[in-house]
Amino acid sequence: MTVDMSGSPIALTIAIDGPAGSGKSTAARLIAERLDYVYLNSGSMYRAITLLSVQSGVEPSNQIALIELAQNCQIEFVDNGQITLLDGIDVSTQIRTPVIDSQVAAVAKVPGVRKEMVRQQRRIASSGGVVAEGRDTTTVVLPNADLKFYITASVNVRANRRFNELQGKGINCSISQIVQEITDRDLADKSRLNSPLKIDQEAIVIDTSDLTIGEVVSTVLKKTDHFSTN
Ligand code: C5P
Repeated sequence: MTVDMSGSPIALTIAIDGPAGSGKSTAARLIAERLDYVYLNSGSMYRAITLLSVQSGVEPSNQIALIELAQNCQIEFVDNGQITLLDGIDVSTQIRTPVIDSQVAAVAKVPGVRKEMVRQQRRIASSGGVVAEGRDTTTVVLPNADLKFYITASVNVRANRRFNELQGKGINCSISQIVQEITDRDLADKSRLNSPLKIDQEAIVIDTSDLTIGEVVSTVLKKTDHFSTN
């Protein structure tokens, strides 16, 4: 816990952006645990809306129906962000399949969907003491965050991580499919008009290609020391 001179906890707002597979989610969750902060995984919210659209047969091109889905569903996090509840049902596994991976960027680029998600993200982060991660948390959701990071890694390293994650869940795929999926999603996330993934000018860039997760976490935690006076 970061504390001030009197020993009282400081509720910092930490925002982390970066591309798929960069290690930002694992790092953000561990940092939140270490600081006893709320962990906000904004990608899970876009994934949940995408799952809803797949389940209800709404095409990503049907913006009005997508916005309605976003406005009328309830997304909650439990177990400090590890479990995503969509209308009360645990969808944590279902939102991390190749089908959702391939469709989420199309849903996430819809301005009305983003507007609703950003509103919810700001509400969750409103009291501080939060580690929020995604694509636009440093630039749009929390532009006044106390600390901003951009966590990245090479495409091959990111694809290998994702491959191992899917294999671990028993989901069959090839490395070349994953490289393609990650490359496509990077392009979609970086080139969209509304809130594209980019490096905020105040963000500290961390390339995790050759770092362990422990090294990433301690790099971020060291920066929080500047806010602590003892
Ligand atoms: O972080 P994750 O890979 O789970 O995010 C899934 C997708 O959700 C991203 O590829 C992006 O299209 C979208 N997203 C977004 N803005 C965020 C977080 C995620 O557009 N803040």
